[in-house]
Amino acid sequence: MERRGYLIIAIIICLFAFSSCRELKVKVKHRHNQHHQLATYNHTLARILVQYASAVYMSDLTELFTWTCSRCDGLTEGFEVIELIVDVKRCLQGFVGVATDLNATVIAFRGTQERSIQNWVEDLYWKQLDIDYPGVDGAMVHHGFYTAYHNTSLRPGVLNAVQKAKEIYGNIKIIVTGHSMGGAMAAFCGLDLRLSLGEKNVQVMTFGQPRIGNAAFASYFNQIVPDTIRVTNDHDIVPHLPPYYYYFPQKTYHHFPREVWLYNIGFGSLIYTVEKVCDGSGEDPTCSRQVIAFNLSSVSGNSISDHLAYFGVQMGCDESSSCRMVMDPRVAAYGRTDLDGNLIISRDPSTPILKLDTDRGDKGSSV
Ligand SMILES: *[C@@H]1O[C@H](CO)[C@@H](O)[C@H](O)[C@H]1NC(C)=O
Ligand SMILES: *[C@@H]1O[C@H](CO)[C@@H](O)[C@H](O)[C@H]1NC(C)=O
Ligand SMILES: *[C@@H]1O[C@H](CO)[C@@H](O)[C@H](O)[C@H]1NC(C)=O
Ligand SMILES: *[C@@H]1O[C@H](CO)[C@@H](O)[C@H](O)[C@H]1NC(C)=O
Repeated sequence: MERRGYLIIAIIICLFAFSSCRELKVKVKHRHNQHHQLATYNHTLARILVQYASAVYMSDLTELFTWTCSRCDGLTEGFEVIELIVDVKRCLQGFVGVATDLNATVIAFRGTQERSIQNWVEDLYWKQLDIDYPGVDGAMVHHGFYTAYHNTSLRPGVLNAVQKAKEIYGNIKIIVTGHSMGGAMAAFCGLDLRLSLGEKNVQVMTFGQPRIGNAAFASYFNQIVPDTIRVTNDHDIVPHLPPYYYYFPQKTYHHFPREVWLYNIGFGSLIYTVEKVCDGSGEDPTCSRQVIAFNLSSVSGNSISDHLAYFGVQMGCDESSSCRMVMDPRVAAYGRTDLDGNLIISRDPSTPILKLDTDRGDKGSSV
């Protein structure tokens, strides 16, 4: 009899647990239905921004600063870098500059430089929601992604350069982009520009970005930075990590909208890419989520190669070296180093762009 009693109590607890789960789900759905606004996807802009997100991976700082690197042409030609920020200790990199053709300040962050992308992806699986996003009830984010932007030399460098750009170019639009972890940093940066600088015209577009916070955070993010597009590519595994569990909407990671999912259809030589603009939930079940099956121990249907090329543009480092930097002494003169050895290379945007004869024989020194 006693066992039976426990059983009934257990069942009642379960019922309560489930009903509260359901209730939570309804609440979350409800909140997500009140999207403030959803970004309009612009294919042309995506093709341009992916090139910025690719270029920021380049390790030759001279070529990057003077916008002469091998990835610094095509749709990004004529970009004027104002500041290049390198956090040496944590191997982070970002730049701020002005794209006059877009009439915008463009900020880009580099993704992880780890030797093994495979290991980095496996670690992502276990990332915890371990820090409260300040000032927002119930919003939690991943500490590592949060601090990569907020607690490094990247943030002060970026904010300073944005102010400098404003002095010359006025209140032009600010576009923030990045791939992989760089996308996570771009998201925190976009939010920060709205909150700290009160910038009104902020647009975020990320590529292959992991999840960074829970549902409450996603909802807040959408409210503050509605003009956000999160591009995912076919079977890219990274946007599915850290995992999202449908039955525990409040407890797990949850993407903010708006996803645009790229996938290929066709056979043989007749393959073309569809760009599916997803719903306002952030976790549209008919977008990339549909091709990923989770079971308790792993993720299937995943691909790392789909993570490393977006719109046919190579993402990731140019060489297998991890966190190597190359710099010409003439550019080093524009740089300053802080106590931690972090590097900021900047120029006054009102001065002419530095022109170097990029003689390949003289690659400068490794830092
Ligand atoms: C899309 O972006 C491009 C590049 O910024 C711009 O020229 C074009 O007008 C935009 N299209 C729409 C429909 O906004
Ligand atoms: C930021 O860094 C400082 C010094 O390294 C540390 O004391 C602080 O706890 C960090 N903040 C967060 C949120 O991790
Ligand atoms: C650039 O954007 C600003 C702010 O939106 C606007 O006032 C200005 O007219 C734009 N310039 C061009 C050339 O479109
Ligand atoms: C879970 O995924 C792994 C790896 O793809 C596979 O070996 C295993 O059989 C799957 N388990 C279930 C229950 O589907």
